[in-house]
Amino acid sequence: MKGKLKRILVIPLMVCILISGGCNMSSTTVTETSSDLSWWQKTIAYEIYVKSFKDSDGDGTGDLNGITSELDHLKELGVGAVWLTPCYVSPQADNGYDIADYYNIDPAYGTMEDMDRLIEEAKKRDIRIIMDLVFNHTSNENEWFKKSRSGKDNPKSDWYIWRDPKPDGSAPTNWRSIFGGSAWEFDETRGQYYLHTFLPEQPDLNWENPEVRAALRDVANFWVKKGVGGFRMDAITYIKKPAEYKDGTPDAEDGMVGIHSMTANTDGILDYLHEFKSSVQDGTDIFTVGEANGVKPSDLDDWTGENGVFDMVFMFGLVNIDLPDETNWCETRDWKLDEFKSFFTDGVKSSEGAGGWFPVFLENHDQSRSIVHFLPEGGDRKARAKALATLLLTMKGTPFIMEGEELGYENVNWPSIDDYDDISTKNHYEFALEEGYSEEEAMEAVHHFSRDSARTPMQWDSTQNAGFTTGTPWLPVYPDYETWNRTSEKEDPDSVLNYYIKLSSLRREHSELIDGDYEEIMHDDESIFAFTRNNGTKKATVLINLTNKEASYDPGTVKDATCILCLEGDADPGALRPYEAVIYEE
Ligand code: GLC
Repeated sequence: MKGKLKRILVIPLMVCILISGGCNMSSTTVTETSSDLSWWQKTIAYEIYVKSFKDSDGDGTGDLNGITSELDHLKELGVGAVWLTPCYVSPQADNGYDIADYYNIDPAYGTMEDMDRLIEEAKKRDIRIIMDLVFNHTSNENEWFKKSRSGKDNPKSDWYIWRDPKPDGSAPTNWRSIFGGSAWEFDETRGQYYLHTFLPEQPDLNWENPEVRAALRDVANFWVKKGVGGFRMDAITYIKKPAEYKDGTPDAEDGMVGIHSMTANTDGILDYLHEFKSSVQDGTDIFTVGEANGVKPSDLDDWTGENGVFDMVFMFGLVNIDLPDETNWCETRDWKLDEFKSFFTDGVKSSEGAGGWFPVFLENHDQSRSIVHFLPEGGDRKARAKALATLLLTMKGTPFIMEGEELGYENVNWPSIDDYDDISTKNHYEFALEEGYSEEEAMEAVHHFSRDSARTPMQWDSTQNAGFTTGTPWLPVYPDYETWNRTSEKEDPDSVLNYYIKLSSLRREHSELIDGDYEEIMHDDESIFAFTRNNGTKKATVLINLTNKEASYDPGTVKDATCILCLEGDADPGALRPYEAVIYEE
């Protein structure tokens, strides 16, 4: 029996923003001005979990026409790039991250005409659509895989990773897939195993084969021609496998080792990605952001910037901050505020050092909600959400808002594992029980980490099903929707939504929040996350109390500065209420 889920040290905050007068301009070197930046560096990105955003036809599943009908919500938030989770044809074993046809839209989400209209309508509002390219694997129902598994002599036989069994008939290695269980699945027809980093329904493509790489580039170029604004590259650190397939030292009682430690970021991966960049991105104005589990700030020279492979890299240091071992949800670790701060500071600085750009995010569709993940229990929910909003929208980089984050969503805490839909949640729960944790401990981990918390239907209004669908929603609507929804929050001047809208326009009005250099200050302060953004003309100082207690700082930090965002004009230089955040400018 291992340790149980420990309550994480949390960091709450709240917001206010101050000002004072005067302009004490410092003459720090400035790396960019707003006009030097690309469109995607100046904008705000927003992630839509397509299945959960808005249902236009009453089948209980979100769809493309639903998104088109709500583009004005995104426009109001100042969003210029919308990342759609995969909406290609898929049997939905992993909600679309198992693609059966990269060239067509899943009928549940609409048609290619609907997609063309969405791209056009979005463009009219200066919004570009970002497609999710799932290129490490396909669905087992993809024609490519069906051909590959049909025998060893067909032209696509080598498009996936096939290996003979060990002499005793068992799997070629003891690798555990990311979603649990062996990473190998036996196929009767070929008499061989195929590799799947995720589910058995998600066989890994063989990137060693140049035909595979060419086919994937064709897919990407098809979408570039459609006019999309960029790509999020799913699970990209797993595409290159090691030269030898060997057993690893078991890391749990099942005798297996997590595949991540055996295959992530394998030497040679960058060659493939450079090839992709030069044949897809060069000469276009699209951006790429790689989902790069295993890439650290110290690796960024190779991954981002002129000599790198992506414009931005999603690293995992923050979302895994409470996991000593990411294969096991039930062991958590306490962490301190300085580690949280360092994730951002190291990320920004290393991205800059590499000539690249930092994607700022606190949530996505694989993570629990940030006010639960990173803040302590209790305190005012609005204030907590606003505090994190301040961080998200004033940190240097392109902010990525997860659908619902702008409304202040919390985690679902459904009582039984049967209430959950996500396959990864269910598998982690089973794994925990097999490893000797109690049901209560396993459920506590589910409540803390389940991906379903990020996936409940969007809450548009207080009518039935939160205005998401007229049918039966595919995942239950969170019961707090009568208060926490777009329409009610729009009417409440003090709401989380209106705070996001305010911060978004503040970024545009005070461009140092976009193009200013970033410097962290007061690193050792255990309550306040503070930093400056200075573009040589203006300097903003952002101070966020990430605790549930009052906090103080040297008022000289903001001497002669003006509060540009504060609680009703009521800010007291040198003091922050619980969760209070302030922004001063000089
Ligand atoms: C990425 C996606 C996740 C998906 C997995 C397999 O991590 O974000 O949702 O399950 O890849 O494609």
